[in-house]
Amino acid sequence: MLKLGLLGSAALMLPVERQARTDLSIKNRIPESQLPRPFQVPFAVPPVARPVKRTATTDVYQMSMRAVQAQILPGFPKTTVFGYDGLVPGPTILALAGRPVLIRHINRLPALSPFNTPTTTSVHLHGSPSLPQYDGYASDVTAPGQYKDYRYPNVLNSACTFWYHDHAVHHTAENAYMGLAAQYHLHSDAELALPIPHGRYDVPLTIKDAIFTTNGSLVFDDNDHSSLFGDVILVNGRPWPVMKVERRKYRFRVLNASLSRSYRLALDSGEPFTIIGTDDGLMPAPQRVQTFRLAMAERYEVVIDFARHKIEDRIILRNLSNPNNEDYPSTGRVMMFEVASNATDTKNNTVPAVLNPDNATMNLNETQAVRTRRMAFERDGGQWTINGSTWDDVIKSGFEFVIANPGLGDVEIWEVSNDSGGWFHPVHIHLIDFRVLDRNGKPPFPYEIGPKDTVYVGEDEKVRLIMKFRPNRGRYMMHCHNLVHEDHDMMTQFEVGQGGNDPFSAPARDLPAPSL
Ligand code: C2O
Ligand code: CU
Ligand code: CU
Repeated sequence: MLKLGLLGSAALMLPVERQARTDLSIKNRIPESQLPRPFQVPFAVPPVARPVKRTATTDVYQMSMRAVQAQILPGFPKTTVFGYDGLVPGPTILALAGRPVLIRHINRLPALSPFNTPTTTSVHLHGSPSLPQYDGYASDVTAPGQYKDYRYPNVLNSACTFWYHDHAVHHTAENAYMGLAAQYHLHSDAELALPIPHGRYDVPLTIKDAIFTTNGSLVFDDNDHSSLFGDVILVNGRPWPVMKVERRKYRFRVLNASLSRSYRLALDSGEPFTIIGTDDGLMPAPQRVQTFRLAMAERYEVVIDFARHKIEDRIILRNLSNPNNEDYPSTGRVMMFEVASNATDTKNNTVPAVLNPDNATMNLNETQAVRTRRMAFERDGGQWTINGSTWDDVIKSGFEFVIANPGLGDVEIWEVSNDSGGWFHPVHIHLIDFRVLDRNGKPPFPYEIGPKDTVYVGEDEKVRLIMKFRPNRGRYMMHCHNLVHEDHDMMTQFEVGQGGNDPFSAPARDLPAPSL
């Protein structure tokens, strides 16, 4: 309780302009004073998806996107959400490098969302170098009553945390906000052989913010297409949960699945995090940090050691926030760890000094680059644009327009800039992973020294990225992962080489589906 009191006063110390007030114009929005108290709900891990079958070469899954009623806020009525297989977040998929996965995604959603937006879907496996027709191309949509089979190669240099989420053109934000998001863990023999935490000590933490009415409904308020900031923080779908932990190391796969909110995470015990992995794999070497910025769609694998605590210790995962987020006292806390027992298993309880020394992306160097391109993320005439263009320009061109056409196998440097002081953009490039070379001429943050596909481009920042365009030819999206910006319309595409598969070449089909 003392800790809560201290946090309360820390929140009061925020500069006045960063203290948002609950928007009373939203009918029935839960006033701040009536939000559920934090740390009342037990933490839970989403279930692991079970294949419908395993063939000699492939694990086969089938999932239905459905509307369900979920008890999310204690003391309030149930909430209508959209889930993969009716779960929010959806089931975690466990895949093994070298073993392809096929997922049949069936759209059984009602025709309209509670916000009256269409519920056509497109499923993107974020991080995967999928072929263009299986990449969740925004305009390749599946309508309610249709299904689409997605194929994932699971070939990559590194074990890592992918995630799958909706990507339907112009209403990705609504669909993802309703709950269409989940983790996908790609394991490899090299990673499984490391003495880092595995199994039940390898835990997904999907963080997201939301706004609710007193009737339990989700509110979609994107402030005139600028951003959506909720006052409730959900971890794996539960508000400010409490996780009971043993006195040992845990590995958390932290994913920010919020539409617009970025976090700066810290432990109230003052102890550091050991970052071991970034978006697309383990880092060459672990990095200890007190705090780190977490933009939407970024993933960090974070080790916390609870062995230094006594049983019954409570440690709060705090959000210290970043500029241009709308903060509430309730958004300064994410979840709580409660040390409940001694370790029941002490195997795989170390972090070696070398984790992933031969990652091809991390070994790229500037002299290999054949060209440098500039990508400016800017607000232009009421639209969010990239070098002045939008996804509508792509649509109007009959999907021909491309912002860049690197050759297959080319190494390039992309200089990504945000000249505004008023907002930040998490920039995501499909197909490839990249190494962050520098930010405003300075080295990347220690926790960014690993293979990534999404980078925090903060206020007045210019970030240089180096990447190799492989393994597929074809057209792929690049966009801001503030999903409100993405939908309006900060998204474009690039094409690798010539003659790649067409993103529309495996269209959705009507139900009933033939058996898998
Ligand atoms: Cu996580 Cu193009 O998206
Ligand atoms: Cu992606
Ligand atoms: Cu943006």
